[in-house]
Amino acid sequence: MLFVELIRHKRDGQTLSAEQLKALVDAYTDGELPDYQMAAFLMAVYFQSMNPEELAAWTEAMLFSGEVLDFSDIEGAKVDKHSTGGVGDKVSLILAPLAAAAGLKVPMISGRGLGHTGGTLDKLESIPGFDVNQPVGRFKELVDQLGLGLIGQTGEIAPADKKLYALRDVTATVECIPLIASSIMSKKLAEGIDALVLDVKVGSGAFMKDIGRARELARTMIDIGASMDRPVRALITDMDQPLGLTVGNSLEVIESIETLRGEGPDDLTQITIELVVEMLDVAGQLDDRDQAFKELRRLLDDGSALKIFADIIEAQGGDPGVCDDPNRLPSAAHTVEFCADEPGVIRSINAEQVGVAALELGAGRRKKEDDIDPAVGLVFHKKRAAQVAAGEPILTIHYNDDANLEGAKQRLRQAIEIGTGDINEPPLILDRLK
Ligand code: URA
Repeated sequence: MLFVELIRHKRDGQTLSAEQLKALVDAYTDGELPDYQMAAFLMAVYFQSMNPEELAAWTEAMLFSGEVLDFSDIEGAKVDKHSTGGVGDKVSLILAPLAAAAGLKVPMISGRGLGHTGGTLDKLESIPGFDVNQPVGRFKELVDQLGLGLIGQTGEIAPADKKLYALRDVTATVECIPLIASSIMSKKLAEGIDALVLDVKVGSGAFMKDIGRARELARTMIDIGASMDRPVRALITDMDQPLGLTVGNSLEVIESIETLRGEGPDDLTQITIELVVEMLDVAGQLDDRDQAFKELRRLLDDGSALKIFADIIEAQGGDPGVCDDPNRLPSAAHTVEFCADEPGVIRSINAEQVGVAALELGAGRRKKEDDIDPAVGLVFHKKRAAQVAAGEPILTIHYNDDANLEGAKQRLRQAIEIGTGDINEPPLILDRLK
């Protein structure tokens, strides 16, 4: 096959066959197709897009470029959730044990934080001893016995995506809906799940800044799922301010434990319960929506979900004592209040800038290779639409290194807008797609 011809076809807006697309993915994964040709192809896709049949074939080729987990011998519906990422988004830590307590099987493969967004693996690793690198056999055992497993991407799952993503990152082809959708779906479908729920975030802290693009991404992923007989649902949710009250790894674990105990902030609790209800629905296990809400609330309030979280921490080598005693988690050497300069109402909190402030304290990484400090971060006392007096604390900064403090404070000053007048709070759940 002459790859230059395929690049030319795509450049000129023609349609490629499933066989041609598979040949491109396979040759690139095996190292036969050089980066410069794949880069040209990706740029052609950026401008010419792919039709649904092409995208299904491209995603399938990526999915089968490596190991595809098979959990069919495990009883029960295997369902996962994927979030497109945000600031303070610790939903997975609460959702996986809650969904397991509700009877679902959750084989969750998560990622690390990059830039202003956090990652589930970094949060889990702030729990002393927690090991996200479990062999596939053990991962299966955990899902079977405890109802969930929480691991990181293995080199064997969708290796085509790993190579393609690295190339997209340096060729300005990340921001392309078919390429994002195929990247996410190839990894998720390789987890051996029966169904998937997407949390597509929109707003200042999200990958998608406007709801039109968020809907288009969600629809594209739902269609890819349908092409492979995997039902997919999506919620479009607000990420125009941080989710919950904490940003930073061990601080977010503490907030997750509080939420698992039924004492979490309303936005975090609501979004988590809504997503688990969608998981039950997509798995065909939802009889009555109101009843499911009540039952999930009960599983938080009576400690059932927290017990499962403690069990999975222990099973993956971590210290389950953190669930009763947050002092066992890493904590920062210093704290300082960040206060309002003037009285008024908090008009907006730019989530991306808040994420960058936390990154500057050491909670995140600029480059994949960077180390993070699990202890540092931010704890909000006031969020959007709250009244503040001059000098009143809006949040507490947890930090270890004085050198990072001034930059983070400046960033927060830019991120938080105080003014006057009424605020129109957007709903947390902006749309539901299936
Ligand atoms: N997340 C992914 O996994 N892939 C993308 O392309 C973008 C975000």
